[in-house]
Amino acid sequence: MLDVESPPGLSRGAGRDLVAGRGRAPRVGTLRSVSRYYITTPIYYVNDAPHVGHAYATLNADALARWHRLRGEEVFFLTGTDEHGLKVAQAAAAAGMTPQEWTDRLSARFEEAWRELSISNDDFIRTTEERHHRSVQAFLGTIYENGYIYPSTYRGWYCVACEQYYAEAELAEGDCPIHARPVQWYEEENYFFRLSAFEERLVSWYEENPEAVRPGSKRKEALSFIKGGLQDISITRRSITWGVQVPWDHDQVFYVWYDALVNYLTAIGYGVDAERFATWWPVAHHLIGKEIIRFHCVWWPAMCMAAGIDPPAEVLVHGWLLVGGEKMSKSSLNQIAPSDLVADFGVDAVRYHLLRDTPLGSDGDFSYEGIVARYNADLANNLGNLLARVATVVGSRCGGVGPAPGGGRLASVAAAAVAEAVEAWDDSQPHRALEAAWRLIRETNAELEATEPWKAEPGPEVDAVLGSALEALRIVSLLAWPAMPSACSEVWRRIGMPGHPESSRLPEAAAWGGYPGGLGVEKGKPLFPRISSGQAGAARG
Ligand code: ME8
Ligand code: MG
Repeated sequence: MLDVESPPGLSRGAGRDLVAGRGRAPRVGTLRSVSRYYITTPIYYVNDAPHVGHAYATLNADALARWHRLRGEEVFFLTGTDEHGLKVAQAAAAAGMTPQEWTDRLSARFEEAWRELSISNDDFIRTTEERHHRSVQAFLGTIYENGYIYPSTYRGWYCVACEQYYAEAELAEGDCPIHARPVQWYEEENYFFRLSAFEERLVSWYEENPEAVRPGSKRKEALSFIKGGLQDISITRRSITWGVQVPWDHDQVFYVWYDALVNYLTAIGYGVDAERFATWWPVAHHLIGKEIIRFHCVWWPAMCMAAGIDPPAEVLVHGWLLVGGEKMSKSSLNQIAPSDLVADFGVDAVRYHLLRDTPLGSDGDFSYEGIVARYNADLANNLGNLLARVATVVGSRCGGVGPAPGGGRLASVAAAAVAEAVEAWDDSQPHRALEAAWRLIRETNAELEATEPWKAEPGPEVDAVLGSALEALRIVSLLAWPAMPSACSEVWRRIGMPGHPESSRLPEAAAWGGYPGGLGVEKGKPLFPRISSGQAGAARG
């Protein structure tokens, strides 16, 4: 997505007309190439505390944001909490609190969980904020003025856990098809969105934008839902007050999903800062879980069209983390707090495991045995061991000063790993990028075992082998940085590199030969001490 940066005061991309319409004169500025990347997570319901399933979702977005920053792009990374709706109001009532007290408390727990996981979001949006209420009212007010909203009577079934209406035929023996719990009958006068008017436009949007939903199987799912016929949907509620007030009818609030989706616009200045909005909206990427495809790939693009803006550039769909085959969710018992995992394994190991274990798009099975096994194999035995043995031998054979890399086989192994990791990160496939980086680690360990520099006489051959191992470590700390920012910075520091991995620009900085030699190498404590499976289990009780 190469783009030409405009001088200040000039808008770019799809929103250009917004500003040009006001007749601003173009100013002359320095043109330079800049790419931008706007990534969002869903905003989480605050009916209960964050669990590892949420962590998995937010971590993927964080790693992608960090990757694009390493690429030299300007990045805006948004997450937040979804605080309206019946589900939240009921959770507050059950706790004997006002909805506002409850959401203040729960939202803070999400922010804290993300701090503990080193999430690098640029903003944290709460739907109870004034800026969001204003933006929802501006956006839906525009859709109303454009004639796509009309009053009518709603009659139908509603699942509070899903915050979703269901047609009779969608129910599973009368219950919610997702939660297998009873649904409620609703009948009231409210407002409808003319979703049916967008069937054809949505189909042609997806035909013209084959990358708009990924993976392709999810695009197909969205398309077949659209082609199955769209019905108008009820988007306001008269019976509840916990929500954003409908600007043209103060007796109603917007249905929670209609308010929530707009968060993606609020955070980039919709309705208040046309230039900022035009900067970020054309490069919007929504990362979402597979159960909310209909909202993001059918309703949301239709709402955008109705308001006269383009749909998001990409919706990237991930699967669920399961525990013993069940979705880890707030309504089930197998909740695991991210902070428990961080306490047991450290933040980088948790991040690495979750990103490496489950390909983005597939379901994954989370288990303690799984994370312990991967920690020991990939982190303790491979990365940690490589760093320790290289630092030890540089100490004994080179007086602690790291030599410059040689050429040879490792150089081409590294080039292949870099090419694949860069391609995988660019393609939003963290697990594949990490796989490629670990291939380089394994090959480097194998090279050391084959040449045994710890037995050889000091000299140019030993220097070349050790220099190449240090160079491989430098490259790995770049490729894996989006997944393990602190561990990679620590590797970088111990091999004597100045600055931080994140001040590098990829892919250039990952080219073979960047380790200059002549730097002090520090052994330090084991980066990832081995864990016995009893140890982590014991902490869990
Ligand atoms: O749906 N594995 O909020 P939410 C992976 N407020 N992802 C999981 C998961 C698991 N076990 N459990 C939950 C909502 N998630 C709305 C979003 S956006 C405008 C409004 C993911 O808290 C789930 O797939 O129920 C979803 O993408 C996200 O957490 C938020 O879920
Ligand atoms: Mg949910």
